[in-house]
Amino acid sequence: MSDGARTPAFVLGGTGYVSGELLRLLAGHPRFELAGILSDSRAGGAIAAAFPHLQSVYADGRFVDLEELEAMLRRAPQAALFSAAPHGVAAAMIDRLLASAQSAGARLHCVDISADFRYRSAAVYEAVYGHAHGAPARIADFTCALPEHLATSPTPHVAHPGCFATATLLAIAPLLGEGLTEGPLFASGVTGSTGSGRKPVEGTHHPQRHADLYAYNPLRHRHVPEIIACAEAATGITADLRFVPHSGPFARGIHLTVQARLRKAMAAAEVRAVFAAYYANRPFVRIVDGPPRMKDVVASNYAHLGVAADGASVAVMVVVDNLTKGAAGGAMQWMNRLFGFDERAGLLAPAPAWT
Ligand SMILES: NC(=O)c1ccc[n+]([C@@H]2O[C@H](COP(=O)([O-])OP(=O)(O)OC[C@H]3O[C@@H](n4cnc5c(N)ncnc54)[C@H](OP(=O)(O)O)[C@@H]3O)[C@@H](O)[C@H]2O)c1
Repeated sequence: MSDGARTPAFVLGGTGYVSGELLRLLAGHPRFELAGILSDSRAGGAIAAAFPHLQSVYADGRFVDLEELEAMLRRAPQAALFSAAPHGVAAAMIDRLLASAQSAGARLHCVDISADFRYRSAAVYEAVYGHAHGAPARIADFTCALPEHLATSPTPHVAHPGCFATATLLAIAPLLGEGLTEGPLFASGVTGSTGSGRKPVEGTHHPQRHADLYAYNPLRHRHVPEIIACAEAATGITADLRFVPHSGPFARGIHLTVQARLRKAMAAAEVRAVFAAYYANRPFVRIVDGPPRMKDVVASNYAHLGVAADGASVAVMVVVDNLTKGAAGGAMQWMNRLFGFDERAGLLAPAPAWT
């Protein structure tokens, strides 16, 4: 827990998977240090009981409730607030904590990993999620973008795109922004079971998923409007995106392929050169030779992209870790920037590969 030498970091999302990944990244971070973590169901309980793999770092750490976290936040002159709470819950909690920190004169930046602040209007959020937004007046304080697609946030707080959105946006922003393609973009992606969170439900239960592969919500996944909005903000172009997500028989990682018709005939090497230029100086994106492999990025903040083209059409293959690049790591990248730190701080560890 915080010794005051580093910027205190607070986490919402308790015993959840993304929360655990935030704690893992904070454990090795040179500039941030965990100061408090909220648990709705296990306040007072040991962090290590929920995350045994983090026992060596947080041996004495305990979850706190919202009142305690709020009091700690008010005492910190500056702090980072990461939210990995569920959508529909995050907005009101974040709003309360931001208001409280503001009244105490604290400098606070928040990165929300839920969907609550990804849309520019409460009406759009409500249309997608089917319930009222928890803090509509806060929406203007958040910007939703990948750190690869926006150099500086114009707002004090950031909403990180979802994990499938992260993979899709990395592929389609160069296609749209550089005018490479025309017509629909067809995306097909496979995600690991941690993408569904800690609580088991029938469709994501291990015996159902193990040694199996199946699509869900084909052509009507609720993250599509979010991806289109983020792509438009990054490129100025409204994508015609058709997306089919799949559940894969592994715990971590996303493999996603986007296919589209090329506007003019191009060889794979030409398309790859456009992608390499687009992501030049983006430390976590690598354009690889041949198809990328998930094992090379899982449990890291790196995204690998591979490009194939046959003259008339292009296929872009992306691999990311859903919990890291698609959630906790991308959020850490933004938080580093919001505090003026090197965006790579605490995130450069390579993938273990043989998990
Ligand atoms: N999993 C992914 O790959 C992924 C990727 C990108 C974005 N996200 C987003 O990140 C967020 C967390 O995802 P996750 O996969 O970590 O979910 P998760 O494993 O289901 O964890 C969410 C946690 O939130 C806490 N929580 C539940 N109800 C709460 C409430 N009423 N108030 C406060 N806390 C509450 C619970 O922990 P306590 O009971 O201990 O509080 C729960 O374990 C979600 O918004 C999700 O959409 C997830």
